[in-house]
Amino acid sequence: MSGNPTSREESFLVTGGTSLNGEISVAGAKNSVLKLMAVALMAEGRTTLTNCPGISDVPAMAEVLRHLGCEVEISGDTVVIDTPAQVGHVADDKAAQRLRASVCILGPLVGRYHRAEIAMPGGDAIGSRPLNWHQNGLNRLGARTHMDHGRLVAEADQLIGASYELSFPSVGATETFVTAAVLAKGTSVLRNAAREPEIVDICDLLNEMGARISGAGTHTITVEGVEGLTPVTHRVIGDRIVSATWAMGAVMTRGDVTVRGIDPMFIHVVLENLRAVGADVETGTDWVRVRQTGRPTARDIRTLPFPGFPTDLQPMAIALASVSEGVSVVTENLFEARFRFVEEMVRMGVDAETDGHHAKIVGREQLDSATVWASDIRAGAGLVLAGMCADDVTEVCEVFHIDRGYSDFVGDVRALGGQIERVATYR
Ligand code: EPU
Repeated sequence: MSGNPTSREESFLVTGGTSLNGEISVAGAKNSVLKLMAVALMAEGRTTLTNCPGISDVPAMAEVLRHLGCEVEISGDTVVIDTPAQVGHVADDKAAQRLRASVCILGPLVGRYHRAEIAMPGGDAIGSRPLNWHQNGLNRLGARTHMDHGRLVAEADQLIGASYELSFPSVGATETFVTAAVLAKGTSVLRNAAREPEIVDICDLLNEMGARISGAGTHTITVEGVEGLTPVTHRVIGDRIVSATWAMGAVMTRGDVTVRGIDPMFIHVVLENLRAVGADVETGTDWVRVRQTGRPTARDIRTLPFPGFPTDLQPMAIALASVSEGVSVVTENLFEARFRFVEEMVRMGVDAETDGHHAKIVGREQLDSATVWASDIRAGAGLVLAGMCADDVTEVCEVFHIDRGYSDFVGDVRALGGQIERVATYR
């Protein structure tokens, strides 16, 4: 065969014009399960996680752990990690580069084995991802850190409890400090800690394993060092970003969606915003129902650390603004490049201008179908929601990004009555 080389990719074909209606159950949170899998490194034996999402990042994390010597079995929504008495301390460079969340093995490895080497993650589609606060936290606990041939190396003889105040409530730096402090000698205090529900989930698992952590979910987390941890079985909390994606999809398509398996408090601020644009929102202990009849109204949104509006829903907020009545300003406060995908929205006729920090969007009744490229998980999901409000078939390319964070995107959209197809493309 002659001609240009081609590579197989997958796209979603999204047909606009139908509204999302019905019920859906969400699986466990991506940004919890990956960290919980890493925490399993801290106890010899079998740690079992249930309610795990069927996303591609889970087998990717399993590979990272296998390279370190763990046995990992994934069966349905259950992941079992069998950790030997001693594991390796060098994360496989390629596996770690593929999965940015592999940074979360840093704290557990330094905490239990006093040594870790991980490939330094580069910048990505949403912005630069430095590890300086992770390093500072480890240094406070007595570890030495340095760069060596593109890897971050951390080592310690003994970790000693210490206080550390973050200049910004970074999710990852909170996790690194807390996991490393669990087996340190003495008490550690983290101030200006991240308060995300996934942080609470990680601390819950650690406490079930024998750790002594208090204050998770508040600004100050206190960790009293313990001698060792024992493995347990733990259920992963529901995914708030996936839940809110379907809730926002219901508003954009003027539908009626009930999401089960989510604590409504996890998306409290998102639901408040949906009410403000005209949605009717009901909540129960582990479900939310969102209904929209008329056209949503424009609303300004600013992303902030939890409990603020999540940056991971910013693309969906832009998609919502693009079909709302009036002008919305969306402000991104976490990642400097997270508006890059707006160029793809513009292909769909979205009237948007950005200065890198703010995006001004003038809503339209209907969008234009187009061929667009997903650049990360959330941008991809936002583009699909926009496609549901377009006049014809939108092709969203490179959907492997979406598969990293959504268990069965096509199945979920179809279960809600949306029209979407996964197709192979050769470019
Ligand atoms: N930052 C630093 N130095 C550090 C650490 C962070 O400057 O040492 C900066 C980052 O560059 C960013 C800000 O602090 O500008 C916030 O970063 P944070 O550490 O809170 O984010 P993260 O832990 O790298 C997690 C999620 C992201 C989510 C953010 C914010 C995981 C695996 N990832 O990232 O999720 O956007 O928190 O909520 O938990 C996604 O799921 O699509 C995703 C990108």
